[in-house]
Amino acid sequence: MAQTLETIMGYPAADKELARKAMEDGVRIIRADLGEFTEHFPSSNSFNGFYQPTENVEWTTGFWTGAIWLAYEYTKDEQFKQAAKVQADSFFHRIERKIDVNHHDMGFLFSLSCVAAYKLTGDEKAREGALMAAEHLAGRYREKGRFLQAWGNTGEASEYRLIIDCLLNLPLLYWASEETGEKRYAQMAENHIRTAMKCILREDDSTYHTYFMDPETGEPSYGVTHQGNRDQSAWARGQAWGIYGIALSYHYLKDESYIRLFTRVTDFFLTHLPKDLIPYWDFDFDTGSTEPRDSSAAAIAVCGMLEMAKYLDEAQRKKYTDAAHRLLYALIQECGNRDLSRSNGLLLHGTYARGSRENTCKDRGVDECNTWGDYFYMEALTRVLSDWKMYW
Ligand code: GLY
Repeated sequence: MAQTLETIMGYPAADKELARKAMEDGVRIIRADLGEFTEHFPSSNSFNGFYQPTENVEWTTGFWTGAIWLAYEYTKDEQFKQAAKVQADSFFHRIERKIDVNHHDMGFLFSLSCVAAYKLTGDEKAREGALMAAEHLAGRYREKGRFLQAWGNTGEASEYRLIIDCLLNLPLLYWASEETGEKRYAQMAENHIRTAMKCILREDDSTYHTYFMDPETGEPSYGVTHQGNRDQSAWARGQAWGIYGIALSYHYLKDESYIRLFTRVTDFFLTHLPKDLIPYWDFDFDTGSTEPRDSSAAAIAVCGMLEMAKYLDEAQRKKYTDAAHRLLYALIQECGNRDLSRSNGLLLHGTYARGSRENTCKDRGVDECNTWGDYFYMEALTRVLSDWKMYW
């Protein structure tokens, strides 16, 4: 173990003044990027520090739209609102035409674009787009095993698995239930998190990235990694998806058993951080390793801790809020970009994927910015600076 909760409390914490400065830097970079990324979207990760323009494809474009909405909320500048609206329209088109949506990532894409547009501006078309996306996601629910199938054609035995990342897609279903009164969406989401927690959380409180289910019986079969270092290791971003995903389901369901799940997953994350608090891409690696970091994992974890802190008793609330502020301090100091000639992204030192002997990935976006790192960094700053109403 690299840290104890006590050693983490010895680190400096982000206060509002520091968060405000970081937010100003973030807003400045987003504003500068709007020319290139309004009609187009930034690529999932930067290349030598710079995002390239892409169409509205992959699972990653909604993060940029969400970051623009956060910049709008902070500044109230119409320029951001107009740009985010152009993008929300693009998401409506995407789901209407079913462009690159044969996967479960509807929440990542639509909560931060269309749901945000509806919540912030009352945009009815965006609401309709988000509801179409929720219906599409519901189509991936597998009754045998009670889970949302992550990838590939639904029902195929070779693709019959869930992944921990999906916990962030569940809020779209909870939201759709609240909007429409149709309970089935929330029921699917609740069934999914129950199934997921039953199989992906290990006894030592680390998590599997993905878990195959038996398509005949629906019973959990075995866990494997996709982006982690080993099947049995803890992929840092996966563990962070667990932290925030549990907090979000707690927000909607108020199931008290999730509190213990949250503390287990979060304490594992915190106690395995290296000395500078910026996680390596997998918790197999610790202080002194030359392996790359994944700053996005820390940003996600900060948001999850700040969300869950709202529902905890005073001692626990303090513990996780204090930890979140310390991770955020480290992120601002070590990874916050201030220099547009270095990068057009916000949060440096992320890793999209790192190839290893046991995973099937190739290196991708290693020691680069990525759109979700930028988004969760902005969300974390927003949470410190305001009483933020979630898009999730
Ligand atoms: N959800 C995919 C990833 O975290 O890379």
